[in-house]
Amino acid sequence: MFSKGSILSVTVCALAYVHAAPASLDTSLLKRQSITALSTAQITAFRPFTSFASTAYCSPSTTINWSCGSNCAANPDFIPTASGGDGSSVQFWYVGFSPSQNTVIVAHQGTDTAEIEADATDIDAVLENLDSTLFPGLSSSIEAHSGFANEQAKTATTILSAVQSTIKAHSATTVTLVGHSLGAAIALLDLVYLPLHISGVSFKAITYGMPRVGNQAFANFVDANRVLTHINNKEDIVPIVPGLFLGYHHPSGEVHIMDNNQWVSCPGQDNASTECIVGDVPNIFDGDTSDHDGPYDTITMGC
Ligand SMILES: *[C@@H]1O[C@H](CO)[C@@H](O)[C@H](O)[C@H]1NC(C)=O
Ligand SMILES: *[C@@H]1O[C@H](CO)[C@@H](O)[C@H](O)[C@H]1NC(C)=O
Repeated sequence: MFSKGSILSVTVCALAYVHAAPASLDTSLLKRQSITALSTAQITAFRPFTSFASTAYCSPSTTINWSCGSNCAANPDFIPTASGGDGSSVQFWYVGFSPSQNTVIVAHQGTDTAEIEADATDIDAVLENLDSTLFPGLSSSIEAHSGFANEQAKTATTILSAVQSTIKAHSATTVTLVGHSLGAAIALLDLVYLPLHISGVSFKAITYGMPRVGNQAFANFVDANRVLTHINNKEDIVPIVPGLFLGYHHPSGEVHIMDNNQWVSCPGQDNASTECIVGDVPNIFDGDTSDHDGPYDTITMGC
C-alpha cells in the first residue's frame, strides 16, 4: 500500500511546494501578532472533549457501560447509548450523552502515527465525491480522501440512528463530534454527514491531530456551514498530510499548541505562520511523530 518509492515522490513534491511558497510565509510572519493566544480557562474547557476523544481508544465492551478506567473516570457523569467497532477493520466508536457538557457525544478511535501517515499518503487514495446516498445534495465540486470516506461510511448509518435516539432520550439540543488522528478525519466527515439527516440541533466537531480530509470546495463548505475546532500538537506531521500540493485543504478553526505549550488560534485555512502547523512543519522531515499522541494539555491519547 505504501512503498518507499511513494514516500520519496511525496517528499520531492513536498519540497517543491515549500520552494513555491516563501512569499506567503514571509507575509504571515509580519502578521504573527494577530494570531491570538488562548487563555488558561479556554484551554481547560477543551479537557472533557480531549478525554472523550482519548476514550474512543477503549474497547466497546468497556465504553458501553463506562467501565474503561481513567479515560471514563475523566467524564464520570457520561451516559453511553451505543458502542461498536473492532479496532482493526472498523475503528472503535461510541455515542452517548454528557449531562455536564449538555451535549450528545460521538467519538471515533484513531490509529497509530505510522498507520495514519500511510493512510493519508496512500497513493491509491484519491479525492472523490462523497457517496450521494449518505451525503445527499452536496455540490459535485466537493471531494474527500477516498480512504477516509470509506472509513466513515462503515459506521455512518449505525451512528446516525444512535445519535437520533440519544437526542430523543435526553431532549438534547447539541451534538459534539470528537476524534484523534484517523478518528478526527471520521469525525469531520460525520460533521458534514449528520446535519444532512438531522435538523433542529446544532453540531460541532473538536478534533486532534487531524490529517487533511478534503479539497478546497470541501474546506469551504465546512467553513460556510459547520463549526469545527482542530487542535494540532507542536510538530505533529499528521496535520500536514496529504499535502496542499495534492489539492487537499484544511477548513478554518486550527488551534496550535506551540513548543512553549501556549495554545494559539490560527485564523483562516492552512495558516502559513510559523506559529501554526503549516508554517511550523513545512515538510514531514521538520515534524516529530512523537507529538501526534499529545499531550494535548494534560491528556495523551490512548486507553
Ligand atoms: C461492563 O461490561 C463488561 C462486559 O460486558 C463486564 O465484564 C463488566 O463487569 C461491566 N462493568 C460494569 C462496571 O458494569
Ligand atoms: C494567518 O493569520 C494571520 C494573523 O492573524 C492573518 O492575518 C492571515 O490572514 C492568516 N492567513 C490565512 C491564510 O488565513
